Amino acid sequence: MSALLMYCRPGFEKECLAEISAAAAERGCFGWSNLEMHSGFVLFETEQADTAYSLLPSLVFCRDAWPVRQRLQSLNPKDRLSPILSAVEALVAESGVKCFGGVSCEYAEGDAYHATSKFAGKFVNPLRQALRNSGLLTKKENPSLPALRLFFKESSSVLMGVDKPALRSRWPMGVARLKFPPSAPSRSTLKLEEAFIYFLGNDWRQQLENHHTAVDLGAAPGGWTWQLVNHKMYVHAVDNGPMDAKLMETALVDHVQEDGFVWKPKKRVDWLVCDMVEKPARVARLMYEWLHERHADAAIFNLKLPMKKRLHEWQEIKEQLETRIAAEHPDAIFRARHLYHDREEITVYLNLRNQNG
Ligand SMILES: C[S@@+](CC[C@H](N)C(=O)[O-])C[C@H]1O[C@@H](n2cnc3c(N)ncnc32)[C@H](O)[C@@H]1O
Repeated sequence: MSALLMYCRPGFEKECLAEISAAAAERGCFGWSNLEMHSGFVLFETEQADTAYSLLPSLVFCRDAWPVRQRLQSLNPKDRLSPILSAVEALVAESGVKCFGGVSCEYAEGDAYHATSKFAGKFVNPLRQALRNSGLLTKKENPSLPALRLFFKESSSVLMGVDKPALRSRWPMGVARLKFPPSAPSRSTLKLEEAFIYFLGNDWRQQLENHHTAVDLGAAPGGWTWQLVNHKMYVHAVDNGPMDAKLMETALVDHVQEDGFVWKPKKRVDWLVCDMVEKPARVARLMYEWLHERHADAAIFNLKLPMKKRLHEWQEIKEQLETRIAAEHPDAIFRARHLYHDREEITVYLNLRNQNG
């Protein structure tokens, strides 16, 4: 039996499973899982793991995933390496991959798995060396080749598989470790930085260089505005709350003390961002209207999802936006993701002006 190993934010295992189950079922692919809540992973057992894996770019709640090909249990603590290397050889024969570009030893999250995470962190070095000695791993890491992935739930059992570079998360296990800029007024600044990197791709900085104006709805104290100012944009920061004094000294911020659901800019801006704590369907409608009426070219916004109906609420919003997009802006870019820095919320990217389809 094969499976798809999926990573998500601890506490979102149910959403992750329900989302893959629904998407896979549409392709005639069915599976199940014994969920471990707050573990940060879901093992989706299915005969069609490759089909399930190919759905990864469309999933919101899964941070990273790979198909499981081998499972080893009751590893001998005195020699875990030998059976793992034999399994790698079987994997190589089966997958047709001659040489891996990287190897990782991964683990579940949460206190219960702390010891295993330490073990996995140490085990990767001897494993890497052994794989290099056998010519199964490139001398230098090569991210353009498939990587060998191992997952230890405990140090005595391991799941193994091979990923595809095009489907691999740019951060190990989807955990975006970004450095907090000391002058930013709030930690949520990292949410917008992660969103830019994730949605715009490798050349995100160059893309932002061509953008000069932005509106930030629900801006106070200014973490998101800080990101925009950091890219030299002039920002209308809409919020009745106080903005960070240092940020205001940049002279790149116009603090608008108005209701974000009512206020509109006099001239069209390049970016609309929104972090208002409000009903998600109301925020999504507002974002669409802004772009549809050409007040802004593109938007990144947060949807705060209600605890008990996170997936359901998102699916309803998605359906409504998709219906309007199909009728009015069929070439739009519309993507969403539960980012590493998101908590009870997801982040959406909407661009109705997309020229490339
Ligand atoms: C999560 S905080 C924003 C944090 C901000 N993105 C940052 O990085 O510092 C939400 C903000 O939305 C503002 N807000 C909520 N409803 C609003 C409305 N109708 N109009 C304008 N601001 C609103 C609140 O005053 C609050 O400051």
